[in-house]
Amino acid sequence: MSEEAAELVPQTSEETPEEPIKQRKNGLYPGVSDELAASMKTGWADTELRDLQPVEQAPNAAARRAALSARFPGERLVVPAGNLRTRSNDTEYGFRASTEYVYLTGDQTDDSVLVLEPRGDGAEGHDAVIHRLPRSNRENGEFWLNGMGELWVGRRHSLKESELLYGVPCKDVRELAAALAEATGPVRVVRGHDAGIEKALTDKVTAERDEELRVYLSEARLVKDDFEIGELQKAVDSTVRGFEDVVKVLDKAEATSERYIEGTFFLRARVEGNDVGYGSICAAGPHACTLHWVRNDGQVRSGDLLLLDAGVETTTLYTADVTRTLPINGRFTDIQRKIYDAVYASQEAGIAAVKPGAAFRDFHDASQRVLAEKLVEWGLVEGSVERVLELGLQRRWTLHGTGHMLGLDVHDCAAARTEAYVGGTLEPGMVLTVEPGLYFQADDLTVPEEYRGIGVRIEDDILVTADGNRNLSAGLPRTSDDVEAWMARLKG
Ligand code: GLY
Ligand code: MN
Ligand code: MN
Repeated sequence: MSEEAAELVPQTSEETPEEPIKQRKNGLYPGVSDELAASMKTGWADTELRDLQPVEQAPNAAARRAALSARFPGERLVVPAGNLRTRSNDTEYGFRASTEYVYLTGDQTDDSVLVLEPRGDGAEGHDAVIHRLPRSNRENGEFWLNGMGELWVGRRHSLKESELLYGVPCKDVRELAAALAEATGPVRVVRGHDAGIEKALTDKVTAERDEELRVYLSEARLVKDDFEIGELQKAVDSTVRGFEDVVKVLDKAEATSERYIEGTFFLRARVEGNDVGYGSICAAGPHACTLHWVRNDGQVRSGDLLLLDAGVETTTLYTADVTRTLPINGRFTDIQRKIYDAVYASQEAGIAAVKPGAAFRDFHDASQRVLAEKLVEWGLVEGSVERVLELGLQRRWTLHGTGHMLGLDVHDCAAARTEAYVGGTLEPGMVLTVEPGLYFQADDLTVPEEYRGIGVRIEDDILVTADGNRNLSAGLPRTSDDVEAWMARLKG
């Protein structure tokens, strides 16, 4: 980016919604001669794409919109994708469209807004419209003089192209806020993604009614359709390759830091998918006992364990969430193996409890029971297993719940009501993690010294099927023996 070109970008402060670029005086910008302005208007080929096919999930998104329409008859429903967030000056953070918008459209374009307009005159149902930025205007210089013009940020799909891709009529989003401010009738918005749209609706919405919309969209995602299950399998398959990549470079990580592991996995995520679905936890040695260790700036030492919790997010934004705890030099020590095998046994019990009709809490209870039994057996906690479980004493070392729904969000469906999720029943098509762990903090004086600083978690992504479950992440080894054999093969 040359300095000269950068100077041509109008100050963003001038760009208020009330004063879009086309209304600025005569396209006269500092440093732009009339001759250059005239030159930039013309001589461009027609690049409109006229034979685009709909995205694969277009029918799925249409079915989801129909279900949403049926749940909120007669109400205008506003679902923003969200806006870019400034990192500094004219630099933005990477954009990730809102889960609700992606779920209902299959699109991921910033600044877009899906609106379901109730049909008037007593007709049932809604008409969907995607409001989005059109191609940049070349007549007024917007495409090259505005920092968000296509010459700077890349070509966008035209409104017509977007209609072909997503099967939904499209309009210019720059007119939406004013239209919503004028509109009458009941309306709900998914909050937290687009401040401009929310501002336009301030006097028309209530927090309680908007929350009902958010809860509905969370619960609608509890059961995945075939497209989503396919995408989750792709996410997991890429993640498996990412874990293999990491094992192959453990010597380089030893020479540098946990960051080498983070960067190696990230390369796989960016090449095969969109991103990582959450900050990779690359926790060597005692860092494994810090549940969300994402600083990843620690040393990687032979003889320690590496707890790697990472997931590739696909280009359609479905994410895996997988953990393996690996001996960095390829061989578990006796105490590491003892703890690992206990967590494995706990995970086996948890996975066995994942089946249709089971309570969601069953797999957690089954996993925790095994861990409590081990802790009692090892003499780390006194009393009967029943007493330990009743008082929750095992939680000093098990720390977290045993799993959660997985999908577009790593902790998917988080706004669902207790009775629909945590207090609910498993159904075919649900995808959840089973991820027990044992964590002995380095400063835990209640356990013998040999335990201290060891943390183990094993996490797999499990699909509930008609007659039980399928482990989507079975491509990675889980027993201690299989982990060692797999590492030996990859390290060569
Ligand atoms: N990676 C976060 C979790 O396992 O829930
Ligand atoms: Mn995880
Ligand atoms: Mn998880």
